Amino acid sequence: MTVRFLSAPDSETQVRGEIVFEDAPASGKCESPELWGKKGKVALIPGDLHNSNNPNNPDKIMTALVGGGKRGKFSDAVLRDVAAEFTRACGAHSCSRLSLELSLDGEAQKFSRAASGAAAEGALAGAYSFDKYLGKSRKKLPLESFALVGGDEAGLERGRIVGEAESYAKDLCNEPGNVVNPLTFTLLATKLSAQLGLDCSISDEKEIAEAGMNALWSVGKGSATPPRLVHLVYRPEGPARKRVAIVGKGVTFDSGGLCVKTREGIKTMKHDKSGACVMMGVMKAVAELKLPIEVNGIAGLVENMPDGGAYRPDDVIRAMNGKTIEILNTDAEGRLTLADVLTFASKLEPDAILDVATLTGTAKAALGSYTAALLCDDDALSAALVRAAAIAGERLHRLDMDDERLREGLNGVHADLRQASPDGGGTIIGGMFLREFVDPSIPWAHIDIAATGWYDKNFGVYSKGSSAYSLRTIVEYLSSL
Ligand code: BES
Ligand code: MN
Ligand code: ZN
Repeated sequence: MTVRFLSAPDSETQVRGEIVFEDAPASGKCESPELWGKKGKVALIPGDLHNSNNPNNPDKIMTALVGGGKRGKFSDAVLRDVAAEFTRACGAHSCSRLSLELSLDGEAQKFSRAASGAAAEGALAGAYSFDKYLGKSRKKLPLESFALVGGDEAGLERGRIVGEAESYAKDLCNEPGNVVNPLTFTLLATKLSAQLGLDCSISDEKEIAEAGMNALWSVGKGSATPPRLVHLVYRPEGPARKRVAIVGKGVTFDSGGLCVKTREGIKTMKHDKSGACVMMGVMKAVAELKLPIEVNGIAGLVENMPDGGAYRPDDVIRAMNGKTIEILNTDAEGRLTLADVLTFASKLEPDAILDVATLTGTAKAALGSYTAALLCDDDALSAALVRAAAIAGERLHRLDMDDERLREGLNGVHADLRQASPDGGGTIIGGMFLREFVDPSIPWAHIDIAATGWYDKNFGVYSKGSSAYSLRTIVEYLSSL
């Protein structure tokens, strides 16, 4: 189902939303002054306040007063969140044909291309829910149309593409481990590639072992569903301006392996494939936006399970790049699955490599639940990603990997490397470990979304479940190349 994006309400519109600011209340319209204009608060009022002579059955039209917060702080990022709260509130009232507008001092405002994109992304995100396994009566009505009055059409179209790619990534990630495993993931990757005209190659467990990707293979060998490697390529019609690789962590379920997680810790671990799902969504967006660059989307897919074939603590594994790794904790599986995939990506000699992973629980202790960690030794790439995140309305915070003494903790006793270190700094250590597998001549950034990939509440553009965090940032970054 595709949403119709319009630049004015039509006769089908059910709710006309108006953005109002808390520091500029309009007299006469305000019944609850304490809520008026508060960011993201939506009040639905029967009737068409904009046009009391509306011939289209005014009884059936509602007006929504949509809080925009403080007028001076209004931005594209606020608009994205506000549009999401608007469509979410309308959805809860079974309205799905909506329009949104902003008047300042009695003048209807025009929205820039970027603002229009943000509004479309927000509108789609607010209407999102993962309800395919619910009965009909509990399913959310799909958003049918969204008009941004004074919106820029190209901006709305770009926002639609990015928003739908984000919904695709969330849908994939919200699927449980009994549905999406390494095998079924590759079937979905094949399907997506066919739809988008991408190259798609898949390696099975034999090919993974033969290629020397023993780190990836070891993590996957304790599961009834063997590991897979998927490599998608988008090529532009003309010559590619740049070549980039996007690598995603694809642990379809992380039980912890033999170092099994606690009954609390194991909950929601179906979303340990978030990075791979973000990669898939990025490929969809890039192909639909027809960006003039080559994008390689790569994911190592494994299920981290404990059985008689599982890898164990003390095992020594030789990774694809020849380095040996001593296993300390089978729950630090993400860095092993990524290690070989980063070596694989390096061999493609791209201009940059980005990886996205739900890698370390300590990311939440370091930065909280709303900011992803950025680990990157390349100042230019780091700055470009932080800039892209600001435009995309996501938060990235760079953690430096320059502490040589901390790095020494990764030196192995019986192998070149050990999998973890005793000195804390878990999120930085995760990045330092991955760095050992990337060709140092290629600019590379690691985005740790362990704390931001999953939410158990609805707020702003985020809804319960997967957030596909960093997808918008990466698409924005790729669009800037
Ligand atoms: N998938 C987890 C990280 C995670 C934790 C993601 C919570 C999302 C929410 C990862 O594989 C893991 O288990 N990491 C360990 C690393 C440790 C054993 C060095 C962790 O964070 O405890
Ligand atoms: Mn783990
Ligand atoms: Zn994991």
